[in-house]
Amino acid sequence: MMFKEEESGTAQRFSLHGHWSSRLAFVLAVTGSAVGLGNIWKFPYIAGENGGGAFVMVYLVCVVAIGLPVMMAEILIGRRGRRNPVATMALLGEEEGASRQWKWLGIMGVVAGILILSYYSVVAGWTLAYIPKSMSGAFSGATVEDVEVIFTNLIGSWVSVTIAHTLFMASTVFVVAHGVERGLEQAVRFMVPALLLLMLVLLGYAVTSGGFAAGVSFMFTTDFDALTWDGVLQAMGQAFFTLSLGMGAVMAYGAYLPEETSITGSSASVVAADTLFAILAGLVIFPLVFANNLDPAEGPGLVFVTLPLAFGQMAGGAFFGAVFFIVLSIAAWTSALGLVEPGVAWVVEHFGRTRMQASVMVGGTIWALGLGTALSFNVLSDVIFLRGTIYQNVEYLTSNIILPLGGLLITVFAGWVMCRNSTSEELGGAGNTYKLWRFLARYIAPAAILLVFLEAIGIIG
Ligand code: TRP
Repeated sequence: MMFKEEESGTAQRFSLHGHWSSRLAFVLAVTGSAVGLGNIWKFPYIAGENGGGAFVMVYLVCVVAIGLPVMMAEILIGRRGRRNPVATMALLGEEEGASRQWKWLGIMGVVAGILILSYYSVVAGWTLAYIPKSMSGAFSGATVEDVEVIFTNLIGSWVSVTIAHTLFMASTVFVVAHGVERGLEQAVRFMVPALLLLMLVLLGYAVTSGGFAAGVSFMFTTDFDALTWDGVLQAMGQAFFTLSLGMGAVMAYGAYLPEETSITGSSASVVAADTLFAILAGLVIFPLVFANNLDPAEGPGLVFVTLPLAFGQMAGGAFFGAVFFIVLSIAAWTSALGLVEPGVAWVVEHFGRTRMQASVMVGGTIWALGLGTALSFNVLSDVIFLRGTIYQNVEYLTSNIILPLGGLLITVFAGWVMCRNSTSEELGGAGNTYKLWRFLARYIAPAAILLVFLEAIGIIG
């Protein structure tokens, strides 16, 4: 094996891939993985499909009561094991007196990352394709119909979509193959603030669009009649998705975390930043939806229609639009790096491949699987089973089944399998914060996940 087992506890354990240079670097890297298409593209459209306010409420409760403790659990497991998620779960499973078979949780995470990226990359490809479209002024003065036609034509063309997906995957593989820590840290340090700034510019526009009151009321008026159990499951799935939880990504990043960094503080910062971006995206998009009489339940095309419409009417819109889609592509790309990292780290450590070989193998697999999603908007749009198209099935399976299940097993592991001493050591002592975390991780998070899960898939209720 590539690791020598230390007998004197975990303090001497170190990661093969080095460590983050500071707490800020770690927070930025996790924020970079968290803030992505999930916040700006997915959150508004699933909130729209589930009637708005009540969904947003449930989502916020899930983020704080489930997302935060699960994130802390994932980071502490990662830091204690210091390996890829598969090896870490096997090692800690044994060390904590349970079983090496916990490695299957790591394997499920690797598979989830591959499946998520297979469709994530296709959507990221749409954002790439929107950069030249915005620059060329295609949206200037465009009507709702014009913008809808541009979007439908793009996703309806298997050639364009496949080219964009290929470009996105190639750039992801390129960076991962070269090792991510320096490049990633630098990109995120600049891009997260840039994205925030652009969202604020757009918010300024949304405030004056005439639909702001309607947008705010759609997002914050809680009408629980509009919410189904499936909607509650989607809110919980989105909490996991947007925080990059339940699949070992944060665990992999935690493996590179210095011993003295506070896990609680870092997790809280990431959760706050991620939530800010989701709320901002909603406050930008829904006012524009209502000002232009669009349908908030329009689905995956929502931001690709509403935002270009806004850019088309703004002074300097071609410029802002292009910059927006560039920054969003980069946000997607820093998330993509997090999605492949568990798989790549595992292939490197387990099969003794170079990082380059591992990136090409994992990336190639994802690219091939992604064709299923790319084509499900055009050539294969008639292939409908279970939840709908191929894309809809992969999306549902990962967000609503694998991530909650992974999150459940992770908190059960940290709360019940690991002993008190191990977890309190990682979380900086057994004070009140620790007690609250342990209570949430042992009882609240698992019970809530299980309840919502069983209710939604129809086993109880
Ligand atoms: N959080 C990302 C987003 O909101 C998507 C995502 C889900 C992710 N799981 C991940 C990113 C794991 C990195 C690692 O867009």
